[in-house]
Formats: sequence, structure tokens, C-alpha cells
Amino acid sequence: MARKKITIVGAGHVGAHAALWMGLKELGDIVLVDIVEGMPAGKALDIKEASPIEGFDSIITGTNDYKDTEGSDLVVITAGLARKPGMSRSDLIDKNSGIVKAVVENVVKYSPDAHLMVVTNPLDVMVYVAWKVSGLPPHRVVGMAGALDSARLRAFISMELGVSVEDVQAMVIGGHADEMVPLKRYTTVSGIPIEQLMSEEAIQRVMDRTRNAGGEIVSLLKTGSAYYAPSAAVAEMAESILKDKKRIIPCAAYCDGKYGLDGVFVGVPVRLGAGGVEEIIEIELNEEERALFDNSVKAIKGLVAELNL
Ligand code: APR
Repeated sequence: MARKKITIVGAGHVGAHAALWMGLKELGDIVLVDIVEGMPAGKALDIKEASPIEGFDSIITGTNDYKDTEGSDLVVITAGLARKPGMSRSDLIDKNSGIVKAVVENVVKYSPDAHLMVVTNPLDVMVYVAWKVSGLPPHRVVGMAGALDSARLRAFISMELGVSVEDVQAMVIGGHADEMVPLKRYTTVSGIPIEQLMSEEAIQRVMDRTRNAGGEIVSLLKTGSAYYAPSAAVAEMAESILKDKKRIIPCAAYCDGKYGLDGVFVGVPVRLGAGGVEEIIEIELNEEERALFDNSVKAIKGLVAELNL
């Protein structure tokens, strides 16, 4: 079987670590791209030099030239700026949408058949930009957020209960922002509803911590934001697409009709496989969950309205 080709644009913290996780999983050959000269080649070489120790045979290269990305099966976009002090949310949207737009134009030119996975924040807005600019069908464009938010909730539950992370399943839908919606009714430990194992107060505590998890790490790191878990979540989604595993993972997907929405990217459970977003699964939401989800969609729509594409 021919190897898959994966391009990661933005060889910063998230991009480079995604390359490492994907290499460890031998998902394919990986091209790291960045605007900083030399840096992607340096990181690619460093990862390649780790490969004999870990025993993976992915070819990993770095470049500043999009020509080298030609014929990719999957393109992951982590390129962007972090919000700096004094920068408004709108400034960040302007800057990062400009970057994502330029990146997408380049990657689509060389890889018209690729799946696009967007990681750049604000995620739900940037995935919309990528889709709009790419001209790709919506099932080939997906945003990484719910996989990370759910992993964080799973980690907190396992820490709280002293049980294996492997047995904890969790579902976080909505936007990748304060308004995200952790769903306790769809969170279980080996099939046991979480409400049978944890008090309401403890459940609220882990759900609040999940909503603030990105900020918790920023305040500890002082400079920069999380990258180990975000990059692991990228690799998890990449594996499901490239190996056609058809996992059900919450992802930012284009909902037009689904959940009664009219053309917005938002985190919902998705079957991810070789066809990209093969199915958006409409789970039943009670009144409270639906209100929280609608509130999250409203926040995303407000940000999308600020875009000048
Ligand atoms: N083309 C290619 N690469 C670019 C461009 C561009 N036009 N503009 C910026 N970059 C690169 C930067 O040079 C940098 O190497 O994107 C990389 C971003 O990496 P980091 O600053 O280390 O940021 P990181 O922590 O990896 O986060 C990347 O993912 O989780 C989100 O909020 C996060 O939006 C951010 C993104």
C-alpha cells in the first residue's frame, strides 16, 4: 500500500509535535511547512533522527516551499499568531484569517484532493475561513477542537476517580471557547454513566475545569499555550481519516440542516474516515443542553460576522 502524504503548515509547537505523534504512529510521510526559513527543515531533521530509536520509518521533511506539499492526502493547518497583549479578538481574527486564507490557497493549488484539518484559533472561525477559501466540499474540511476538549475532560475525570483514562469516554460539543458544552449525560466510565460515580458538584468542577483548560495552561506556562494534548488530538483525528477507522469524535464540522443549523462550523460528533466527515451524528439534546449549544453557536456566528474575506 502506498504511503500517505501529510502536510503540516505551521511548524511551531503544535505542528512539530503533531509531526512527532504522527511519525510514531507511522501514519505516512510528513512535510512540515513554515514561513520561518530553515526552521521546519531543522525540526523535521531532529524528528527523523529520533526515528531509529523509536523505530518508525516515516519520511519527515521540512520546507518553505509549497511545491513540496504536492499530492498530500491530508493537510493540517496550525499556522497563525497567538493573541498578544493589547491585541483585540477582532485583530486576532483579522491576522489569523489572513494567514489561513493564504495557506489554504497555496495548499489547495498543490493538493486539490486533500482533506483539510484546521487547528488555528479562533478555531470555529478559522475552519469556516479555510472551507470558504478552499472551495472544497464541506466533508473534506474539519476543525480540531472537540477531540482535545473531550480528552481534557477524560483526563480530569480519571484524576478525580483514580481510574484508567482508557475507560473514560466523554463528549464535548459546541465551539472551542468558553461557551463549549461538555455533556455529562454522554460521559461514561466503562459504560457507567458518570452521574452514578461522581457527585453533581464534582461533575460541575471537572466540566468547569475543561472549559478553562486552555487558560489554565497559559497561566502556568506564562509564555505560549498548550501543545502536547492539542497535537495528540490532531494525530488521533488524522489516524481516523488516513486509516479509515471511522471513529466517532467531536469535531468542528459544517452543519447545514444538521442540528437545525444553517451553514456554520461547530463541534458535533462526527464519523471520521477516508471520506472525511462521513456523517454528522445528531444526538438528542435536552432543553438545557440545547440552550447551551445554541448559545455557543450564537457566539461563533458573531465572530464569523466580523470576517472580511
Ligand atoms: N505560513 C506558514 N506558517 C506560518 C505563517 C504563514 N503565513 N504565519 C505564521 N506561521 C507559523 C509561525 O512561524 C509559527 O512557527 O505558524 C507557527 C505557529 O506556531 P506557534 O507560534 O508555536 O503556535 P502553536 O502553539 O503551535 O499554535 C498554533 O494552534 O492551538 C492553536 O491557538 C493555537 O492558533 C494557534 C495554533
